[in-house]
Amino acid sequence: MKNISIITHAALLLILFAVNYDAQNKILIPDTLSGVNFNLTIQKGTTNFYSGFQTNTLGINGNLLGPTLILRKGDHVQMNVNNTLTDTTTIHWHGLHVAPENDGGPHTVIPPGTTWRPQFTVMDNASTYWYHPHLHKKTAEHVTKGIAGFIIVRDNQEAVLKLPRHYGVDDLPIVVQSRAFDVNKQFITRSELDSVILVNGTKNPYLDVPAQVVRFRLLNGSTERTYNFGFAGNKSFYQISGDGGLLNSPILLSRLRLSPGERAGILVDFSSMKGQNIYLMSYASELQNGIIGARFIGMGFGLPDYNNNKLNGADFNILRINITETTSNAITTIPTSLVSNSTINIASVNTTRILNFTSSGGMMDVAGPFLINGTSFSMNKINYLIPLNNVEIWELRNFTTIAHPFHIHDVQFYILDRNSSQVPLNERGKKDVVLVEPMETVRFITKFEDFANANVPYMYHCHLLTHEDDGMMGQFIVTQTTDVESEKNLLPSKFSLDQNYPNPFNPYTTIKYELIEKGFVTLKVFDLIGREIKTLLNEIKDPGEYNILFDGSDLTSGTYFYVLSVNNNRITKKMLLLK
Ligand code: C2O
Ligand code: CU
Ligand code: CU
Repeated sequence: MKNISIITHAALLLILFAVNYDAQNKILIPDTLSGVNFNLTIQKGTTNFYSGFQTNTLGINGNLLGPTLILRKGDHVQMNVNNTLTDTTTIHWHGLHVAPENDGGPHTVIPPGTTWRPQFTVMDNASTYWYHPHLHKKTAEHVTKGIAGFIIVRDNQEAVLKLPRHYGVDDLPIVVQSRAFDVNKQFITRSELDSVILVNGTKNPYLDVPAQVVRFRLLNGSTERTYNFGFAGNKSFYQISGDGGLLNSPILLSRLRLSPGERAGILVDFSSMKGQNIYLMSYASELQNGIIGARFIGMGFGLPDYNNNKLNGADFNILRINITETTSNAITTIPTSLVSNSTINIASVNTTRILNFTSSGGMMDVAGPFLINGTSFSMNKINYLIPLNNVEIWELRNFTTIAHPFHIHDVQFYILDRNSSQVPLNERGKKDVVLVEPMETVRFITKFEDFANANVPYMYHCHLLTHEDDGMMGQFIVTQTTDVESEKNLLPSKFSLDQNYPNPFNPYTTIKYELIEKGFVTLKVFDLIGREIKTLLNEIKDPGEYNILFDGSDLTSGTYFYVLSVNNNRITKKMLLLK
């Protein structure tokens, strides 16, 4: 990127914020691809962020980031994703309701030199979605290096509204990503010193907009940082869409918090500002502590550089906006209403799931790894089996001092409440990411429709990519309840039985098992010739981890078997009593 204009000192004097910077580079607006056939080539590249330095980057059909895919609801689309890297990766369509084999999660890898060809019908409402890699333990690295792009879905409901939709003119994609660079100006994947803001991959960017109502499609594409968007001078704006569609009506705001993965469509009226400029900012000084980007994170244990990052807790500029000539056919008014979201009736709920977030290092630990219900992600373990068409409440309980943006694949949801109180107006539309604040409980409601596949799971996880890579993730399979065969195959993953400890033992040993779902549990001990020696358990149990103490004091030395059965599916292990 070249220096195109130099901001004047007079303009800088008007900006009295903690972090000054010069907006010198015209913002990159990604090219668009539309139609029903999309060719995406993941490739290596370089980008010139600092004069005299080439930063190694990754991109799709280019050096950095990828094209904006314009999809029409109802279209059947074919994606051809060609991986020219020497690394395996995946591409996930974040927010889109597609079958799990087309979703691009960590199981659907694209090995080097191959092309992945998913097809799907676009079922989601008009809004802003995005795509990014999702390889287990590599997501942060691949996204940081530059693989990510926008998806804009258009539909007939949105098309009849008087909204700006001239891409690149009055309808503008804005992805904000903070980055850390090393001395050679290469990206550092994990660093609390991510003090360089890139907007659409542009450092120190400016954007020309016409003097009229303009739509920004804001995406927080950062690894960890939350932004508290607002305009200099507290100029107000209207939020019109959330993650998965339009809101019922535009919501007047002066601040808009977006955590990693979240999107928002906003309308800003620049009609009376021709010839002026204004900054899009993050008012991070107002962020609640515990949210990455705020002044303090817990007591800071485990994040030594956090307090040295000048962006944390500061109000800083993100994008300089220059207001230019009004275009013909300009939108000049804000609509009074948009669509009607019909949230899901709570009376139809079949299942409520509770997800407890904890840190492996204890309550005050902010470095993780973080756990969901006491466990870390395993590629081989299905955490939930969800019957097709189930209506569910997920209750997210954050028992840590750091905020986690929770994301689920497959579905959009409606937030029911935050700590039992009402959801802010701008969070009442369809969502696929929700920031769960420290010690907060958030409940959402959703329905698992359309896609069941016994073999490919969907993910749910923290969208702090470092937390995700470190295992703050789980997976679920949506099952057709009538599909007995797949149910049978899947049942073993509903529970697990560990080797007893100690083994050999005398006379006590502990048998540990875990239930992922509620079930009828029996635990029995047999001798070598198959005689039943003891029944340790015979009852219905809730999900959880259990430890059973086994007393062999009345038995003779030898080999015994213990059999755990849940709903008639069994696992057997051997143990040795040595007296
Ligand atoms: Cu945006 Cu599972 O991710
Ligand atoms: Cu996703
Ligand atoms: Cu997290």
